[in-house]
Amino acid sequence: MATITWKSCYETGNPTFDAEHRALVNALNDLYEAIRKKQGDEVLASLLSTLNLYIRKHFQHEEQAMLKHHYPGMEAHIKAHRAFKKTVNDYQEQVLTGYTGLASDLYKYLRDWLLNHIVKTDGQFGEFLRSKNIYDCGPPVL
Ligand SMILES: [Fe+2]
Repeated sequence: MATITWKSCYETGNPTFDAEHRALVNALNDLYEAIRKKQGDEVLASLLSTLNLYIRKHFQHEEQAMLKHHYPGMEAHIKAHRAFKKTVNDYQEQVLTGYTGLASDLYKYLRDWLLNHIVKTDGQFGEFLRSKNIYDCGPPVL
């Protein structure tokens, strides 16, 4: 396992979403670095709350754009966001309750889910926007 290096296949073609995805990946890399330095337990609560905030804002930006542009895949996409937010919340609750040793598992989960979602699900939304010639830069980046 290593930090995530940004690849061109992660680009959705929407500058706002791509910048926000990069911010999420950077937050994940911070988590990875903390794990590598054996500080996973110490920093997990604060990293998780930053990440959770980013995720909420970012999903909101995507969902607002889906609604605005009548994206046909909106329902399934929002469902995927909801399920992910629930899992992250569950982890956060465990951490706040005092569970330790969760950092590596959480990192793996976040990394797999986010990269898969960015490449497949967000990639499809990006394609839809481009097919409609929509390139607006949307709301502020995270
Ligand atoms: Fe998404």
